[in-house]
Amino acid sequence: MTADLKGKAALVTGSGKKAGIGYGIVRKLAECGVNVIIADLVGKETRQNEPLANNMAEMTHLAKDLEKAFKIKAIPVELDVTLQGSITKMVDEVQKQFGRIHILCNNAGTVFGVPNAIHTYDQDAWMKTIDVNLHGVFRVSKAIVPLMTDSGGCIINVASRAAKVPPLFNGAYAVAKAGVVMLTKVMAKELAGAGIRVNAICPGVIQTDFTDWRFKLEADILDSTVEEREAEMLKSIPMGRLGTTAEAADLVAFLASDQSSYITGQAINISGGQLMEI
Ligand code: NAI
Repeated sequence: MTADLKGKAALVTGSGKKAGIGYGIVRKLAECGVNVIIADLVGKETRQNEPLANNMAEMTHLAKDLEKAFKIKAIPVELDVTLQGSITKMVDEVQKQFGRIHILCNNAGTVFGVPNAIHTYDQDAWMKTIDVNLHGVFRVSKAIVPLMTDSGGCIINVASRAAKVPPLFNGAYAVAKAGVVMLTKVMAKELAGAGIRVNAICPGVIQTDFTDWRFKLEADILDSTVEEREAEMLKSIPMGRLGTTAEAADLVAFLASDQSSYITGQAINISGGQLMEI
């Protein structure tokens, strides 16, 4: 189904954690024969109240495993999407390794400063959340599009259900993800002439560390348990289960492939029916 992907080169941001959606995406693309850049924060705080995550040794190990399993090239690269210097360094490495990029997936995302209503939200946490989730997509896209323009490409931005349905006390994340959806549409219009399609995916709840962290936070606030929070969440999902990283990755591979050749500027829900729109 995705045979046209073989031999292409992809960059996926926030893809250095084995349990995350980003790694699921690089793994799926590698399985389709794509050479991949695994780009992620190294040794920094990835989320509010999280221990420092990702180290280069682990990312190198993930890359080597993919090379062995799928006979492709996989390169681990340190990347902080909030720092222009880090992006420039990463682009130099991409150019050195692959020359050009066919597929960019802006997946890096995070949350700081929750739970808080707008009037109690810490300003630095608000700015940082929007900087990673929204401005990070702008910065990385701006840097990578020049590596695509010769013969086109695909950009897939990972937004969220929160872009479309306002969550409680998580305003910066929701506003940033809504911004990602509009940025997707703006880029799709601007880049169509250059043969670059741009789409977003809007996951509902996908089982990752992020989800575990979220259920724990909710349980602490509501004096409940993680199991109770998950059970409550499942009631709102018609399919009655959380999504998997592999399911999110399948959608990204579809949007990166010629199978979706007439689709651009869309924000596609993947939520087990939790989000339905006309
Ligand atoms: P995760 O926390 O496992 O992965 C996020 C990745 O982004 C991490 O590898 C982290 O190191 C990276 N990251 C954070 N700040 C960064 C920065 N400044 N520069 C570069 N990388 C950075 O979470 P998960 O669940 O895999 O999320 C992936 C994407 O999917 C995120 O954009 C998230 O907002 C989105 N999403 C996830 C949902 C879920 O239910 N898991 C639901 C809706 C959206």
